[in-house]
Amino acid sequence: MKIKERYVEFVNENILRIYEKKNDTSLFGLNEPERNVTVEKRPAVGRNADGSICIRRNGVTVFSEKAVDKDHAPEEKVNFDIAFKEGHKKSDNRRSYKTRIGIALLGEEDKIYGLGDKAAFLNRRGYEYVSKNSDDPTQHNETYRSLYKSVNFIMVNHDRTWYGVFYPSSYECTFDLGKHDPDILCIYSDKGEYDYYLFLGDSPLDIVRAYYSLVGPGIFTTMKFMGYHQSRWSYTDAEAHELVRRHAEEDLPLDFIHFDIDYMDGYRVYTVNENYVPEFKKTCEEFKKQGVGVITIIDPAVKKDKGYSVYEEVKKIRGFATLKGKEYVNEVWPGDAVYPDYFRKDVRDYFKNITKKFMEKYGITGIWGDMNEPASFKGPLPEDVEFPGDERMILHDEAHNLYGEYMSRTLSESFREENKRPTVITRAAFATTARYTASWNGDNQSLWDHLRTSLPQVMTMNLCGFFMNGVDVGGFGNDTTKELLIRWLEADIFMPYLRNHSALGTKRQEPWSFGCETYEIYKKFLRLRYEFIPYLYTLQWQAYKYGTPMFAPLFLYYPGDERVKEINDEVMVGDRILHAPVVDQGEKRRVVYLPEGRWIDYFTGKAYDGGRDYIVDMPIDSTGIFVKAGAVIPLMKGKTYVDPKEINEIFVYHAKDPEDRGDICLPFDLHWDDGESLDYEKGVYDTIKIKVGNGKAEIERLKNDFGKELRFTLL
Ligand code: GLC
Repeated sequence: MKIKERYVEFVNENILRIYEKKNDTSLFGLNEPERNVTVEKRPAVGRNADGSICIRRNGVTVFSEKAVDKDHAPEEKVNFDIAFKEGHKKSDNRRSYKTRIGIALLGEEDKIYGLGDKAAFLNRRGYEYVSKNSDDPTQHNETYRSLYKSVNFIMVNHDRTWYGVFYPSSYECTFDLGKHDPDILCIYSDKGEYDYYLFLGDSPLDIVRAYYSLVGPGIFTTMKFMGYHQSRWSYTDAEAHELVRRHAEEDLPLDFIHFDIDYMDGYRVYTVNENYVPEFKKTCEEFKKQGVGVITIIDPAVKKDKGYSVYEEVKKIRGFATLKGKEYVNEVWPGDAVYPDYFRKDVRDYFKNITKKFMEKYGITGIWGDMNEPASFKGPLPEDVEFPGDERMILHDEAHNLYGEYMSRTLSESFREENKRPTVITRAAFATTARYTASWNGDNQSLWDHLRTSLPQVMTMNLCGFFMNGVDVGGFGNDTTKELLIRWLEADIFMPYLRNHSALGTKRQEPWSFGCETYEIYKKFLRLRYEFIPYLYTLQWQAYKYGTPMFAPLFLYYPGDERVKEINDEVMVGDRILHAPVVDQGEKRRVVYLPEGRWIDYFTGKAYDGGRDYIVDMPIDSTGIFVKAGAVIPLMKGKTYVDPKEINEIFVYHAKDPEDRGDICLPFDLHWDDGESLDYEKGVYDTIKIKVGNGKAEIERLKNDFGKELRFTLL
């Protein structure tokens, strides 16, 4: 097959756009990165015999398109009915699509990473995924084609080269990562155009940053947001009081408590059920005095209910989605429900304002946006549901994957208008959604498998520019066990967003639910998390500013090491901490691979030579934290909630290598600011270089526009 006209445009030396027809009317804006392509650095564009694109850098082919000119092989002619009777499902959805982008996989050993929140291992080669935001509460695993988010970014490693591909379409599309033909990576879409971005670079970090320059910058949250969140579906007032009391009395860290759907009156958004949470305002105010913020859940769907103000007011401006011109009704928690058209500015303004008023009225700190795929109980919304939008009519097939983004954007505006950083969390997302909100990965379950998956899932979200991401610690559905809860908290202790959440009707999993021993270990780890807040907060800054993942797979920092390309149960927390937790039931030790260099066990001070495996003892109350020899880490001590105003002293940990008398020092540039306003956007922050020399911490203020006085004490 001879390929039609296909164009290549250099966005800059790392980013190319390849298209047949450009679609620039998309509902998400991509950044225009600086166009700085110098002729010498420009990769060479060649054509394969069939006319498809081939890119060379320094004489090496780094990327070559592979045309796909036929549909998948015909289906097997078998009678499936007998298998269906027992409840089996057909897993092969072969069909033809209008647009097929084929990209050659260059070798047997190639690995494919990316695609957001899939419940899979880091390397996704051999699977197929569909970008269609889906609310599926059954047990997620690596073969689930769609979860809550559609992040059409993949990164491919071929030998020593890396490239990334972003498919900028909000329409449903399929990524066949070598499932049907092991040699070909394909993107299929019925409605999306042949139009994609290609990222080139010398390392995976270059690729990830080039992608981020297009879809970022992501949210930079408050410092407080990085504290511990406790949730359950659904706390009453009384339960919440008891919880906050225990945390305070027992010096058990806590920054947020979440109120799930039952705080609402009949699941009407922006209302409060006075019977369920009789003293909600007082509760929020009291908690605030104790340093604990309140986050309430808000779903997009509005109860269709005569006389209910939100329904009536939005109806007045014709602000709900329609089908053939008539209000479109489906069902969610409140029964019959309608969907706001967040694609229209006046509708967004309405929701922005009631969000502001609602938060002010009760003293609420943050909003947790859920069910925004959008979810529906009476079958999926038809593709032709109409969102009349501002400039043009938008149909649901185009709007679907962006619905969560537009909702999050609306919520985040209510904070930004008041010079506050948004405290917003979302479940559904598109590639550009991290600009507005933090996120979590929906309804996991209390299973060891889901504990293991939480690591590659959040690492992948970080590769895709969703830094402030996390999962429900302890598992949402099903019953957790004492051991699972502890190992889960240990494993996720550095997760950027840390929340324990569980479903209605499951076994309780608050810190004290399993007796004394579990409680003490839980406490030990929560305190450890809080010690690391200055470090984690700075990592968040580096992520926001430069696109550097804060919770990263090892290959991001050691791309030349073949051994690390498929390590799913170890995480780089920044460039200097390697975390290797126990993720299997009954294990009291585990194999830890340490990459090149020297590593220091954070707890024992023992030094290890990198480049090999070790079997390390990890009884139930311990996890493997290894710090690069010489590295400096800023810590805080003795805090049970995060208030930057109350942090005046930074403790400096130095990973001393006993063999070099502690002479080596890897300095750290601490980021500091007020922790809550948007002033950092105007440059109001400090950058403080911390070094260790002559037995003390040495400080150099590289930037001092916030001017926080901090004492630095070497540990
Ligand atoms: C959804 C959310 C879950 C929440 C529940 C009730 O399942 O994913 O976190 O608890 O709805 O609101």
